[in-house]
Parts: sequence; structure tokens; C-alpha cells
Amino acid sequence: MSSKPAPPSGPTSARSVVTIPHLQSLKLSRVPIVMVTAYDYPSARAAEAAGVDIVLVGDSGAMTVLGYPSTVAVGIEEMLMLTAATRRGTTGALLVADLPFGSYEVSDQQAVATAVRFVKEAGADAVKLEGGGSMSVQRAAAVVGAGVPVMGHVGLTPQTATALGGYKAQGRSAESAIAIARGALALQEAGCFSMVFEAVPNAVTAALMPRISIPVIGIGAGPDTDGQVLVFHDLLGIRAGEGARFVKRYADLQDAMDAGVAAYAADVRAGRYPAAEHGYSIDPVQLARFAETLDE
Ligand code: KIV
Repeated sequence: MSSKPAPPSGPTSARSVVTIPHLQSLKLSRVPIVMVTAYDYPSARAAEAAGVDIVLVGDSGAMTVLGYPSTVAVGIEEMLMLTAATRRGTTGALLVADLPFGSYEVSDQQAVATAVRFVKEAGADAVKLEGGGSMSVQRAAAVVGAGVPVMGHVGLTPQTATALGGYKAQGRSAESAIAIARGALALQEAGCFSMVFEAVPNAVTAALMPRISIPVIGIGAGPDTDGQVLVFHDLLGIRAGEGARFVKRYADLQDAMDAGVAAYAADVRAGRYPAAEHGYSIDPVQLARFAETLDE
């Protein structure tokens, strides 16, 4: 069982631990909420150093750190391991874990049992599940009823991207926008403390925001949400290709990593590494005794 580590000393120690009421107060005072994904100790530490409000162990980790082609394949044990590692680096932010595809759809009992594992075994503060249809809403209500806070997720829901016609913006027809609205309102009614809007037209988000009283975190949903989320690897450029339209890159770490490993490989092959300063010394007397013993 994982427990929340004590806040460290240093730049991040001054802030208090982020709670659900605190997120609600940020919404009411119109202070933008910052959420970022993380999947391990170093990414969690980077999020903490920036003082983000919510760290999400997204099932995007299936692709960003586990190398699967989509989020569908990742399993509960894998997500628990990523969440526990992220927990060890998360001291102030609210830690939300994605329930992976197939871990909550079968029944309310399955959803509650999975959510409880993320809290008890991995130390998550809350879980996120995808979709605004009747199944997702019912599961969200069951998990909330069991005492685990739930974040909803509407619009583009990658776990069911095939059924949605691929990885593309949702809510671009009146029918699709109405479905998003119905889902969002139902998730709110089910007791979710927050929800994600992904790949939703700005105008649809703007029309819905006055009707939603819980914090809405957007990704490709425009500037009118209460906060924003980006995938760690997307914003830091740890990937090949351009990524989705909504991604803004703040660094090109893949280039830096490739260059660093290539320089190391070149140094080893050319005999430049290790140099004298990378080695350990031994007292000459000890070395002489050692050599004598070898010769005996
Ligand atoms: O898995 C994930 O990273 C997500 C975010 C895009 C919200 O669900």
C-alpha cells in the first residue's frame, strides 16, 4: 500500500496540498487550474517543481512510456505501477489515475473494485473514467458512492476512439455537441468533482461552461474551461511527429536525448570515455601489495 509522502523542503514546500475544495475555489475565483500528465517519479517531480494543481497518470502512458499503439492495451497492473511511481514524486498536487479500458465497463462492482485498488495500492487521490454515456455515468456514480472521487472525461475519449470514428474532434455537429452536453451534465449529476473536455470546439465549450458548476479541464477545448491539461511527453517534445493540433511544445527533449546518447556512443567507440576523471584511484602501497599477491 502506498502512502502520500511528506512535502519536501525546497521551492515546492511552501504550497499546501491541493484538495478538491481548493480546486472548486480556484474555479470560483477564476484562477486557471493547471493539470499535466506524469507516469513516473521524475515526471512527477517536474510537475511538482512547477507547482501544478493536478497530476494525471493518464492511460496515454500506454503510448508515451509503454510503447503500445493506443491506450486500449494497457492493463490494470501496469497502470497501478505507473501510478505508484508517480505517487512517490507527487507531494502537493492532487493525483488522479486513469481507469484503463476494460477495468470498469463490466459492472458497477468491477468499477468500484478497480477504483479502490488505485487508491489503496497506488495512492491515487481520485480516478478518471472516460465517456458521458449511460454506462460511464452509472459507473461514475457507483465509484463516487464508494467514496472515491471521480473525474469525468467527454468529447474525444481515446479508449473508444474506434467507435467515435478515430482520433478527431467531437461536437462538430449539433447532435454530437448535444451528446457532449448531456454527458457532461449527467457526469456532474453523478457526483464527479471535475471533468475533462477533450477536442471539443471552442464555441461548444463556451456555451456549456455556464451550465457546469464543477471544474472543467480542457485539452483542445479552447480558453473558456477552468483549466488546461497537456500530456507531459507532448509538451516537452519527447516523441516523434507533430502530435495533435492542440499540442504546444515547450521543449524538444527527444532531440536532446537522441543527441546525448549519440554523443556517449561516439565517445565510447572513440575511446574518449571514460577519461581519467571518471576513474577511482588506489593507494600505491595497496596496489603494490595487490600486484605481489597476484604474482605469488
Ligand atoms: O490519458 C490522458 O493523458 C488523458 C488526458 C489527455 C486528459 O486522458
